[in-house]
Amino acid sequence: MSSTPLLTKLKRQLEHEKEESRVYALKVLRTHQTIPKLLYEKILQDSMYHAEVVEACIEQLQSHQSGGVWVIKESARELLKLMNLEEEATRLFASAASEVDDPHVRDLMLMLAYDEQRHYSILRYILENFVQKSEEELVH
Ligand SMILES: [Fe+2]
Ligand SMILES: [Fe+2]
Repeated sequence: MSSTPLLTKLKRQLEHEKEESRVYALKVLRTHQTIPKLLYEKILQDSMYHAEVVEACIEQLQSHQSGGVWVIKESARELLKLMNLEEEATRLFASAASEVDDPHVRDLMLMLAYDEQRHYSILRYILENFVQKSEEELVH
């Protein structure tokens, strides 16, 4: 049973993510075969991103302002257009994965398809939570 306070846990994890970033950065440098190098690079980027996210979450929790309403200067139409592109990319990579014989290329294509699907979901989240709904845009 974990009774460690949440902020303490998150701060500890932040240090882990930073340490992982250092470890994976070295692996990227030391690995010369393209595909394994790319895979380490993916984890490196994710770890750096996780550190940023955890840091932002710690700040958000310390501000004691639960939730928070942010409206970004963004048009719903533009986001919908981008969501379409992400959806197209998902389909393209998924179909490429099904056509290719090379197992590593297939798995990389599947990883990209998964990423693109996540990009789509993130854009939808932004659209639903941070973009002012303008009547004009919804009608056209
Ligand atoms: Fe992580
Ligand atoms: Fe994308």
